[in-house]
Amino acid sequence: MTLRPLFVTQVYESTLAGSAGFEAFNAELADACRMLAAEDQAGRLWCREHGYRGYTSYGSLTDLPVRMPEFAELKRHLDRHAIAYAKALNFDLARKPRLDNLWVNILKPGGGHTGHIHPHAFLSGTVYVEVPDGASALKLEDPRLPMMMARPGVQADAPEAERPFVYLAPQPGTVLMWESWLRHEVPPNAAKAERISISFNYA
Ligand SMILES: [Fe+2]
Repeated sequence: MTLRPLFVTQVYESTLAGSAGFEAFNAELADACRMLAAEDQAGRLWCREHGYRGYTSYGSLTDLPVRMPEFAELKRHLDRHAIAYAKALNFDLARKPRLDNLWVNILKPGGGHTGHIHPHAFLSGTVYVEVPDGASALKLEDPRLPMMMARPGVQADAPEAERPFVYLAPQPGTVLMWESWLRHEVPPNAAKAERISISFNYA
């Protein structure tokens, strides 16, 4: 018997934690995120109006790599990861993936982000800065679910690639990327402290 794994969804996982000076760089990122949360009035208003428990710069700031050197350095790292991922996906690209947007997420305990996709981009991802004990994993969803009308559920010990939902638990420095059409979710943050991450889109 031969089984061919066709139409495979490749999720990219790497880390910044191995690079020289990572601890200091990660601490600078955390400080930069908290500074934005304290000073970005438009962002705080956006979070209040949209019921975001914590702070995100998503609705207010689109120029973080130009605005602050920490995010410029992060962009240099992420550009390399995006190129590696696009290559691994065998994409036939006329030019390098371009960072379209990058935004900060500080999730308070109990805060989450319901299932969504990222339109107008082709690669999306998140780099994790502070992940306290009990902090939310990233929940990924099988993109074929809407078409699985009569499909039985799978056994509890089914391999990861066969499950309808997969939870990836990040560490500080973890870089996760996926294709932007892949639905994902951040379940409520069960940690007692803030979970800090930075998300991004490549177009
Ligand atoms: Fe997202």
